[in-house]
Amino acid sequence: MSQLSSKHLLGIKDITLADIKLIFQTADNFKEVLNRPIKKVPSLRDVTVANVFFENSTRTKISFELAEKRLSADVVNFSSASSSVKKGETLIDTVNNILAMKVDMVVMRHPAPGAHQFLSRHINANIINAGDGTHEHPTQALLDAFSLREKMGDLNGKKIVIVGDILHSRVALSNIYCLQKLGARVRVCGPPTLLPKHIESLGVEVSHNLKDSLQWCDAANMLRIQLERQEDKFFPSLREYSLQYGVSLPLLQSLQNEIVLMHPGPINRGVEITSEVADSKQSIILDQVENGVAIRMAVLYLLAART
Ligand code: CP
Repeated sequence: MSQLSSKHLLGIKDITLADIKLIFQTADNFKEVLNRPIKKVPSLRDVTVANVFFENSTRTKISFELAEKRLSADVVNFSSASSSVKKGETLIDTVNNILAMKVDMVVMRHPAPGAHQFLSRHINANIINAGDGTHEHPTQALLDAFSLREKMGDLNGKKIVIVGDILHSRVALSNIYCLQKLGARVRVCGPPTLLPKHIESLGVEVSHNLKDSLQWCDAANMLRIQLERQEDKFFPSLREYSLQYGVSLPLLQSLQNEIVLMHPGPINRGVEITSEVADSKQSIILDQVENGVAIRMAVLYLLAART
């Protein structure tokens, strides 16, 4: 199979294991291209991509833009903060106006879960979900699993713990779907207030004990505390959270296994992990960022072939 099963990437829940393997295989090739002196290929020449961001982003936005430029696409960037959305324009009107300018693909981040699903029923362009509220962030999960596979080999049977603010995290849900499709065992760990009710129904193990979870796992994905999505207080203080659920160097060194540490960024240094841990040789945080460009090139390239 050399085609994705869908013309959009709305979430990991909707794609197959064969899709994930095809994306990884294509990203392997693009990673090789990115390590050449000339990093650009003509694959998306004459394709126009709009990056439409209704929420803030550093990594995802830059990574998509770089991926598009490395593939020779024409790129336009839209940020809601400086747009007519502020004057009351609807999502469909905004995107249709962008598409009237002959845009082929839309990469969108939006605070509303399901916004991409809704849009895909109304427009013809390929849509890539760059994060929809607390729902999914599929390219983040793909680059996370790709980085783990690079470090640890086949993920079948590997044990991965996702730690922290699972309740508000789109990264957690996409990671759970992606890792399970690849055959990994997934555990979530955090304070009861930050774990969604009925999370076990997704087939994950649940723990509130960080040290026990770190002893259990091969890799830990430390999620950011999403203070901007927390209207209520979910824990007494950041200091208390960090003491219970933050990873420090002494804690890491007290473990029997040498585990891999990940973080999707942006990091709250000293909260989820200390600076020493973030910058240690067990951390693959910058590999995740590097691999993000190759993964996004692969997704853009494969979806463009599905028009
Ligand atoms: N990991 C991630 O989505 O980061 P940004 O919010 O900076 O894009």
